Amino acid sequence: MGKVIALANQKGGVGKTTTAINLAASLAVLEKRILVIDADPQANATSGLGINVKTVEKSIYDCLLTGLAPREIIVKTDVPGLDLLPSHIDLVGAEIKMLERPVAARNHILAGVISKLRDDYDYIFIDCSPSLGLIVVNALTAADSVIIPIQCEYFALEGTGKLLNTIKVIQSNLNPNLGIEGILLTMYDSRLLLSNQVADDVCAHFPDLTYQTRIGRNTKLSEAPAAGQPAILYDADSRGATHYMQLAVELLKRNGDYPEEPEPTE
Ligand SMILES: Nc1ncnc2c1ncn2[C@@H]1O[C@H](COP(=O)(O)OP(=O)(O)O)[C@@H](O)[C@H]1O
Ligand SMILES: [Mg+2]
Repeated sequence: MGKVIALANQKGGVGKTTTAINLAASLAVLEKRILVIDADPQANATSGLGINVKTVEKSIYDCLLTGLAPREIIVKTDVPGLDLLPSHIDLVGAEIKMLERPVAARNHILAGVISKLRDDYDYIFIDCSPSLGLIVVNALTAADSVIIPIQCEYFALEGTGKLLNTIKVIQSNLNPNLGIEGILLTMYDSRLLLSNQVADDVCAHFPDLTYQTRIGRNTKLSEAPAAGQPAILYDADSRGATHYMQLAVELLKRNGDYPEEPEPTE
């Protein structure tokens, strides 16, 4: 059964979508079966994985609101083993309509959709929007764990406190099994004092949760979405692609899902 991991941070522009796309692509290259669910009306993960948002006719919106089977909507991407459940700007209107559902049901709609898919994938990533609306609550209710990307910039921890509180509320009310998968330092620049201060600060606050892999600032990561490709297809040798591959290996190791190196034989 696949593990469901949400990418969340109430701050925008911290690398949630970049991480969803590139971590997912790296895991697919490592031969895991991967699905990215784009749960953001901005649909950046959808376009970043090469799907023209203007031509998306059915999206996650239809799964959430009309009960359309997710398999009818999921598309393959250019990376073998990496599928996408696309988003659409219409998703903005979904939250209002979801409010028409009974209180007890409205937070579990996405969990119901995902339960039909778990057996088909090893890892399912949900790319969340920064707002804390009903769709993000649905994502955290459906998820097994959360990856929190933190940008190595001023006010880095702003938003993290809020998100950790949100996670506690979800744990006590909706999803007691929700864990923190890891905290990821993004847009790290080892030459900058500020970047290092933020990284040290985050590691000191969350020593066990922070990934050793830090995602460096790399222009290939910001150019690749315009080409509709993960960095590993756009420029496989780029630092961005390399860092996300390192993160994929670290994630698999944390989950006991990476083959042990064989003992050297005499
Ligand atoms: N490591 C990085 N190096 C350079 N640019 C990055 C990096 N990570 C993200 N970006 C760029 O920063 C912007 C915000 O990233 P994004 O992943 O869209 O954030 P979020 O989904 O949290 O809003 C995008 O333009 C993206 O291309
Ligand atoms: Mg995003």
